[in-house]
Amino acid sequence: MKLTEYQNLKDYNTFGMEVAAQRFLQIENADEVPSVIREYLQEKPYYILGGGSNTLFTKDFDGIIVHPAFTGIELMEQTSDDVVLRVAAGEPWDNLIQYCIKRQLYGIENLTAIPGLVGSAPVQNIGAYGVEVKDTVLKVEGYVISTGEPFSLTNPECRFAYRNSIFKQELKHDCIITYVWFQLSKIKHFTLSYQGLAKALEERELPLTLHSVSDCVRKIRDAKLPDPKMVGNGGSFFKNPVVPIEQFTELTVQYPDLVGYDAPDGMKKLSAGQLIEKAGWKGKRLGNAGTWKNQALVLVNYGGATPNEVLQVAETIIHDVKTLFDITLEMEINQI
Ligand code: EPU
Repeated sequence: MKLTEYQNLKDYNTFGMEVAAQRFLQIENADEVPSVIREYLQEKPYYILGGGSNTLFTKDFDGIIVHPAFTGIELMEQTSDDVVLRVAAGEPWDNLIQYCIKRQLYGIENLTAIPGLVGSAPVQNIGAYGVEVKDTVLKVEGYVISTGEPFSLTNPECRFAYRNSIFKQELKHDCIITYVWFQLSKIKHFTLSYQGLAKALEERELPLTLHSVSDCVRKIRDAKLPDPKMVGNGGSFFKNPVVPIEQFTELTVQYPDLVGYDAPDGMKKLSAGQLIEKAGWKGKRLGNAGTWKNQALVLVNYGGATPNEVLQVAETIIHDVKTLFDITLEMEINQI
């Protein structure tokens, strides 16, 4: 493990916030986790930081940041139909995508180019273009910080839901994930329920392969989402709100083009991006922070934005969307 003091976190959060951590501990080997918990995490505040692509640091962190940096993809089992992989928490997510494309493993290609590390993927149940990581996660291994005990949770035990899991509930800030186990298919199949993806593939008249699907996803993302290396951002800033069907129907009287997807229990999932756009916020800027011109759900650091500038934009958007639609947007991003 490697401990540094007064670490600038600018390169450890995709929003590019210039904040410092009093102490910053990189875990270079999963075996070190129990001693990290014993030696460094008996006192708060601490924060477990993956790739920093879903975290907004709002001020200097007066405690210890723990960053799992151990990597590796192991093939654990295989049959003629599928394989089981055990992937270390510090492995960059997109490396796993490349690994799967190379070996013709189906299941997560729609999640191409999502920034962040494998260990963070189950926490918020990352999802895009009709696929969620929960569809392929077999189990998640790690340690509970408060007890120091190891855990191994099966897929149902992880209680996955839309951008949610046990790691954002009971185990929030109380676990270090070490490995995620995936079951991926050797049998050719694709999820093309997201209209934009099916259309893009059709237009390009390419044969349906892992490579072409992944490539299309990358192009769709490039067109809609800013590259964090160029423009600081944390992807979707808010969750898509889920409202009762009656409220949705009422809203469509005034806004007939409102997007609504069926959600469990007779609810409708609305598009936060569309609501924000209708509230006049697409591509709008307040000081050095604002929203992205091609996707209003993404808040961006136009350069040198302070955490307060980002929060000011977020709060004004929440206020404006509430006033217009009587819907309270909930942050997707972790505010620290
Ligand atoms: N829309 C607008 N204006 C906007 C943005 C979107 O009208 O500024 C409309 C679109 O026209 C479309 C609908 O809203 O009809 C949905 O938009 P999009 O397909 O871009 O997806 P999203 O619901 O805004 C979600 C995820 C993204 C994921 C995409 C694609 C959440 C919070 N976000 O966004 O995930 O890439 O679907 O599947 O669920 C992330 O979590 O960081 C993320 C980028």
